[in-house]
Amino acid sequence: MSLDLYNYRTEKPFTQKNLVTLQDYSRDEIYLLLSTALDLKKKQKAGIPHPYLSGKALGMIFTKASTRTRVSFEVGIHQLGGYALYLNAGDIQLGRGETISDTARVLSRYLDGIMIRTFKQQDVEELAKHSSIPVINGLTDLLHPCQVLADLMTIYENKGALSGLKLAFIGDGNNMSHSLLIGCTKVGIHISVACPEGYMPNQKIVEMARENGKETGANVIITHDPVEAVCNADVVYTDVWASMGQEKDFKNRVEHFMPYQVNNKLFSYAKHDAIFMHCLPAHRSEEVTADVIDGPHSVVFDEAENRLHMHKAIMVLLMGDRKE
Ligand code: CP
Ligand code: NVA
Repeated sequence: MSLDLYNYRTEKPFTQKNLVTLQDYSRDEIYLLLSTALDLKKKQKAGIPHPYLSGKALGMIFTKASTRTRVSFEVGIHQLGGYALYLNAGDIQLGRGETISDTARVLSRYLDGIMIRTFKQQDVEELAKHSSIPVINGLTDLLHPCQVLADLMTIYENKGALSGLKLAFIGDGNNMSHSLLIGCTKVGIHISVACPEGYMPNQKIVEMARENGKETGANVIITHDPVEAVCNADVVYTDVWASMGQEKDFKNRVEHFMPYQVNNKLFSYAKHDAIFMHCLPAHRSEEVTADVIDGPHSVVFDEAENRLHMHKAIMVLLMGDRKE
């Protein structure tokens, strides 16, 4: 039976407190997030007010730069009737050594939710452990779950399905590759990851993905061969060769990564109706050529827009009074 996320209903209550990793989520919970985001997108496009978080406050802690995550969470909670506080880690006492656990306990007295972008995944886990309010992972060196939820939404909108599709991730075995490994295998999307030697994804994440795949039928292939990965793919995905915090290493990386550039030749091995995705920001002529990212198969700006709708869904389900 085909998956209808526009009319998805589940009897199971949504009981998650945080979004630290998608590995904690069931397939049903992911479907619920996707259907809520599709519904919120429809309402926003039709101009139907949806003030589900009236008067609620989201704190947004950033220790790294951001365009999409920052703006979409801030605009998103405003559209839901609440408001956001931008908390640059360097400007709050956390940056001067106040502990994460004290920060968590204090912010829990003022706010209704915290979104955090930082380096260590353990810091997000620590924040979630000591907060009585929901904590949302806005990217760490290990994971980027909000991005992958928006990506699954974009894939569904373009393909009308999830399970049984094939996604190829080409490039660095980084936070995006990890979250795609988890997110795809949770919903039955086959995933092939092609990376140069020395830049492979975290083995524990690969093992998690393989376990997920046993439940959902998703195959996981990890290879050094970009053509093998892209062959017959429905979705071709890439990301920068040096993530935030790795900029100094960029020059060393280029020669390893050049054979992994997504250009028209590599893309031609995918299905004729394949889509190209990138979390952005992108570097044209490095991980992707302009003719691919700006070409007819690219959905990168719809993907970026869907961050807004998906972040609203995440906040409604985690911070709202009604658990749908
Ligand atoms: N894709 C993404 O997370 O973008 P930002 O770094 O601009 O938030
Ligand atoms: N891998 C990239 C993703 C940016 C959204 C980084 O961590 O910089």
